[in-house]
Amino acid sequence: MRVVRCCVVGAPIRHSRSPFIHRLFAEQFGLALRYDKREVGPGALAGVVAELIGDGLRGINVTIPLKEEAWALATRRSPRAAAAGAANVLSFEPDAAIEADNTDGLGLVRDLAHHGVTLAGRRVLLLGAGGAARGIVPALLEAGVARLFIANRTPDKAAALAAAFATPGRVKTLALAARCPEPVDLVINSTSAGLTSAAPPPVPAGALGAGTACHDLVYGSGETPFLRWAREQGVKLRIDGLGMLVEQAAAAFARWHGLEPATLPVIEALRRRL
Ligand code: ATR
Repeated sequence: MRVVRCCVVGAPIRHSRSPFIHRLFAEQFGLALRYDKREVGPGALAGVVAELIGDGLRGINVTIPLKEEAWALATRRSPRAAAAGAANVLSFEPDAAIEADNTDGLGLVRDLAHHGVTLAGRRVLLLGAGGAARGIVPALLEAGVARLFIANRTPDKAAALAAAFATPGRVKTLALAARCPEPVDLVINSTSAGLTSAAPPPVPAGALGAGTACHDLVYGSGETPFLRWAREQGVKLRIDGLGMLVEQAAAAFARWHGLEPATLPVIEALRRRL
């Protein structure tokens, strides 16, 4: 049987869950898949990609800190990757194209749907304006959010991100220390604050209403600092980034193999392993 090869690249990569996730997807279809992980630091991606194409890989997942580098390296980009300016998937095509995609936003939207959170007509507050935020803003807008507030520690970066997706009236920036003009339906944490310390990111006052849900792109074995904060504020629906991780992987898997894996059993299996 022909073995299909894929890989995840980034740094640090040791703790990546992608090989586990893709292995469980492949088992659903009896697909012979070899999925490796490889430590690649900033500036080194082009050489590694050339090598992996030579080895016959179908594609790679790309994680921190290489998403912008992967985007720049691509010879073709999906519309959502083009909009995001960052890629988490590179596909090595038969016509020799290196095609960039960004499935992070789709992963978020699909995971929110699992939890009954719809986005059309909703008000959303996004914390952070880095690479992770860039990946999800196009999907939030495409899903039809009525209002998107972007709040970031460095206000200029929030302004640049909002300007990149200029949709008058829909996207507004906010200082972290400011007051949110209205309560929102959903607060999303895309900052790395909870990764690097136990302190949650500051959240603009007035953002939480009776039914506000909170989503953290971060996940771990325990409660994340942002979701702990949300619980302390009385937020009932709190969702971490594990489901989004599996959903973005499923979209990449479908792109490469033409197969739509079931994600809920994989989310459960991964949760048990954390
Ligand atoms: P990523 O690819 O994970 O988004 P990034 O591009 O380095 O990583 O962006 C990190 C984000 O987390 C930024 O929005 C950053 O704010 P700045 O633009 O001001 O740097 C935000 N961030 C990191 N640590 C933070 C903290 N302690 N409090 C608030 N925001 C923080």
